[in-house]
Amino acid sequence: MLKGKKILIGITGSIAAYKTILLIRLLKKLEADVKIVLTPTAKDFVSPLVLSVLANNKAIIELAENDDWENHVMLGRWADVFIIAPLSCNTLAKMAVGICDNMLLATWLSATCPIVVAPAMDEDMWKHPTTQRNINTLKKDGVNVLTVSKGELASGLIGEGRMAEPEEIIDYIIEHFFRTNEFAGKKVLITAGGTHEPIDPVRFIGNHSSGKMGFALAEELYLQGAEVTVIAGFVQVTTSYKGIRIMNVHTADEMYHIVVKEFSKCDIAIMAAAVADYKPLTTAKEKIKKKEKDLVLQLIKNKDILAYAGSVKKKKQFLLGFALETNNEQENALNKLKTKKADAIVLNSLKQKGAGFGLDTNKITILHKDGTVKKYSVKPKSAVAKDIVSFISNFV
Ligand code: CTP
Repeated sequence: MLKGKKILIGITGSIAAYKTILLIRLLKKLEADVKIVLTPTAKDFVSPLVLSVLANNKAIIELAENDDWENHVMLGRWADVFIIAPLSCNTLAKMAVGICDNMLLATWLSATCPIVVAPAMDEDMWKHPTTQRNINTLKKDGVNVLTVSKGELASGLIGEGRMAEPEEIIDYIIEHFFRTNEFAGKKVLITAGGTHEPIDPVRFIGNHSSGKMGFALAEELYLQGAEVTVIAGFVQVTTSYKGIRIMNVHTADEMYHIVVKEFSKCDIAIMAAAVADYKPLTTAKEKIKKKEKDLVLQLIKNKDILAYAGSVKKKKQFLLGFALETNNEQENALNKLKTKKADAIVLNSLKQKGAGFGLDTNKITILHKDGTVKKYSVKPKSAVAKDIVSFISNFV
C-alpha cells in the first residue's frame, strides 16, 4: 500500500522523537520513500545520523548550510504526505501563527500535500487553553491532528499527551490517503468470529474462531475502496481503520437478524463467521447447579445464515462462503456451495499444515459455482485475504 509513496517526516524537539525512529523503520519496511526534516532542537533528542541511515536520505535541519540552500518548496511538493511527529508545543504555536524560522516550518508553509501532526507534550501543556486554541487553528486550516493518548509522560506523571504510536500513524495515513478504488462504490457485508450460545448466565457453547480471516478480508476490501460492514461475533482481533463499520453480536440468532436487515443493501457478502450450528433449547435464567446425575442439554438447530443469504440473493450480488473441513474436503465444500446457493466457497482444511483456528496463516482452495477450482499455498492471513479479494474482483 505504501510502496513507492513519498513520505516526508518532520521531527521537533520532544522526548517522543525516539518513537519516530521506529516509524521510519516501519515505513521503509513497507517500501515507502522517506525524507526527513528536523527542527534544530530535535537533534538534541534524536541523532540525524541514525535518521539519515534509516531513511537512506540525508536528514535536513538547516535552510542553508555551507553556501548550499535546501529547497523547502520542492521538499514540500515532493511529498505525498507530510507527517510531523512528534509535534512539540513550540512548533505547534509557530505553525498556528505562520512563523517561519527554520527549515521544517518553511517546508510546512510550502507543502501542497496533506499534513498529519502527532502532538506530544506534558498534560498541563496539552490542556493549556493556548495549546488547545492552536490545535483548533491547525484543524481549521485543514491539518490532520492525531489524538494524543493517556499514559506515562516524560515528566513521570500519568496523563494525556503521549504521541500516537508509529503503527497508528501508519494506519492513519493508509486509511486517509492511500486507499485504492478497485472496489469503490461497492458495499460489503462480512460475518466474522464465533457465536456464543448461552446455556445459563455464565456458560455458553462456542468455538475456537478468532475472526482473523474475516477481519483481514474486511481490511483488504476497505483499503481497496469498499464500504465495509463487519458483523462480528466473538473475535480476538480488531481493526484500527475507523471507517470499517463493526456490529457486535453474541449469538447466531443476533447475527442472523442483522444479516436479514443488511443483506439486500450489499453488493458482496462474505460469510466467514464460525456460526454455532446448534443452540440450547432453553437458556437457564440462573446458574445451573451441579447435581448428582449427569446433565443432558437439548440442542436445537440455529438458522443457517449463508443459506438464508443464498436463498434471497439477487443476480448482481456476490456471495462467498467458507467451508471448514477435516475429511472429504472438496466434496463437502462443493456440497455446501450448491446447497447454500453461494457463488463461491473458500475451503479450509484442518488437515493442512499452516491452516486452522487462531493461526496467522491459512491454506485455501476456492471453488466457484462455474466449476473453477483454485488452490493456493500456505500464506499469512493478510496475503490470503488479498488472494480472495483478487478472486472476487473477477466477478463484481
Ligand atoms: N454458516 C452460516 N450459518 C450457520 C452455519 C454456517 O452462515 N448456521 C456459514 C459459515 O459462515 C460458512 C459456511 O456456512 O460460510 C459453512 O460453514 P461450516 O461450519 O463449514 O459448515 P456447516 O454448514 O455448519 O456444516 P458442517 O458443520 O456440517 O460442516
